[in-house]
Amino acid sequence: EVMKETFNISMMEKKLKSHFNLQDVVVVPGDSDEYPWVKKEMGRACVSLMKKKFSTEENIIAVTGGTSISAVAEMMAPNTELEKALFVPARGGLGEQVENQANTICAEMARKASGKYRLLHVPDQLSKESYSSLVEEPSVREILGLIRSAAMVVHGIGEARTMATRRQSSQELVDKLRDKNAVAEAFGYYFDQSGDIIHKVLTIGLQLEDLATIPYVVAVAGGSSKGHAIQAYMKQGPSEVLVTDEGAAKAILSEI
Ligand code: BG6
Repeated sequence: EVMKETFNISMMEKKLKSHFNLQDVVVVPGDSDEYPWVKKEMGRACVSLMKKKFSTEENIIAVTGGTSISAVAEMMAPNTELEKALFVPARGGLGEQVENQANTICAEMARKASGKYRLLHVPDQLSKESYSSLVEEPSVREILGLIRSAAMVVHGIGEARTMATRRQSSQELVDKLRDKNAVAEAFGYYFDQSGDIIHKVLTIGLQLEDLATIPYVVAVAGGSSKGHAIQAYMKQGPSEVLVTDEGAAKAILSEI
């Protein structure tokens, strides 16, 4: 039974890797929609990848918010290679509750790894005018420079409607996302089924185009309900590694 399970999992990893053309895929057993411990297992798997890929010369690690990356922080352990890391949030406020914010998770991950961190204090609702003046602030510019020079980015992928609701987005945005058939969300960008961007939350920090030059971008997302979101994001998304679970893997593989 155990052998069969291992075989299935590694087959799923292989298939997903070639389908999405990724460098690496890790599938953990179970479905995180059903069992919360499965999300922790994804967290644990992500921590091992981070340790393996971490180099002290390029030590900046940028992280996003969300419960999946929060699970990565939870599974982080001290006295590892990662104590040389400088953790930064990938982007500024995106409208999440405190426990789901990138700043909170970044500080927690650094604490668990015995590493350092820097935070980005930016309001969630930014007008174009305040955006332009904020990016000119010396303290903000400094941290933006650190974020852009990250060697590793660890991020979540959300289901579009779930994310819009969780962020208490305006009715106008909810309507726009529905009309344009939004499926996925990552980094504050919303994507349709083809992976085209249909909306972007205005905040400072990493922009999608910045990710192209970041050497190691890891997505952590699972649960059968995220199958479509992962598929949509992966069509054009810049991530080269996916940490997911059996629930999402089965949902995706049943459709390709
Ligand atoms: C948010 C990120 O905090 O978490 C999003 O800003 C991401 O980009 C989302 O999609 C994922 O959340 P979760 O809880 O499903 O891991």
